Amino acid sequence: MEKGKFIVIEGIDGSGVTTEAVKLKEHIATKLNLPVHLTKEPTDGPVGGLIRTILAKRVGAPCHNGKFESIDPRCLALLFAADRLDHLEVDIRPKLEGGVVVICDRYILSSLAYQSLNVDRRWLEQINAKGITPDLTVYLQVPPLVAERRRNQARWHVELYEETPKLERVSQNYLEAIADLRKRGQRVEVVDGNRPMREVHRDIMALVKPLLTTKAGSARKRRQPPVDAPRLDIAFAGENEPGAKEVPV
Ligand SMILES: Nc1ncnc2c1ncn2[C@@H]1O[C@H](COP(=O)(O)OP(=O)(O)OP(=O)(O)O)[C@@H](O)[C@H]1O
Ligand SMILES: [Mg+2]
Repeated sequence: MEKGKFIVIEGIDGSGVTTEAVKLKEHIATKLNLPVHLTKEPTDGPVGGLIRTILAKRVGAPCHNGKFESIDPRCLALLFAADRLDHLEVDIRPKLEGGVVVICDRYILSSLAYQSLNVDRRWLEQINAKGITPDLTVYLQVPPLVAERRRNQARWHVELYEETPKLERVSQNYLEAIADLRKRGQRVEVVDGNRPMREVHRDIMALVKPLLTTKAGSARKRRQPPVDAPRLDIAFAGENEPGAKEVPV
């Protein structure tokens, strides 16, 4: 059986990663009629749960100076790598081997961009060396201030890493890490995410479609009647309605 393709969506917080990953899944399932699985990192698994509580600043320890400090950044980086290996073994790899297209909302590139704020990038690459290489990574490029406006419209709390000056550095880290990955032959495409959702989605589909419309993909498509295609219940308010307004940026 032909393996499924592994597609990763990346970007700074508020760049639209989750929005576009959901839209991509919906398109692959309903328009291309292919089996597709959407997943995310950190995961909902045991290590991912711990990471989420740390990012929400709900885990830490009193320091020698009496101040509350979050976990050491190197330990956090190891947790991300551990969560990722677990994710690969219990979820991603079996799905790919079963011929399912897997979309991952954040993956190794997120670790390289975010954790390299405090940790050496080469070491981050080493601890993530057992990860499989995506067939395609899409990086949504959005100015940090625009991402901040979107975030502020969407929620009220600020997570670790999410302050805008930090995200300026994260954006820079992304570009450096992308250049490195490309030198090593990985396919990473940069998409301008500072545009209406439908335009961003259209550009992502233009990158993804040729990857999926291989011989095996077409054969699977013929075998699968459209009525049986999995459907997503998730919808964004008013987004599909004609003349629907998008959040201004
Ligand atoms: N192209 C776009 N134009 C305007 N608003 C957008 C666009 N894409 C996403 N948004 C809005 O921006 C907000 C953040 O989007 P989303 O949750 O997808 O970002 P994210 O990158 O996944 O963030 P995080 O990394 O924090 O999960 C949401 O309210 C979403 O509706
Ligand atoms: Mg998200």
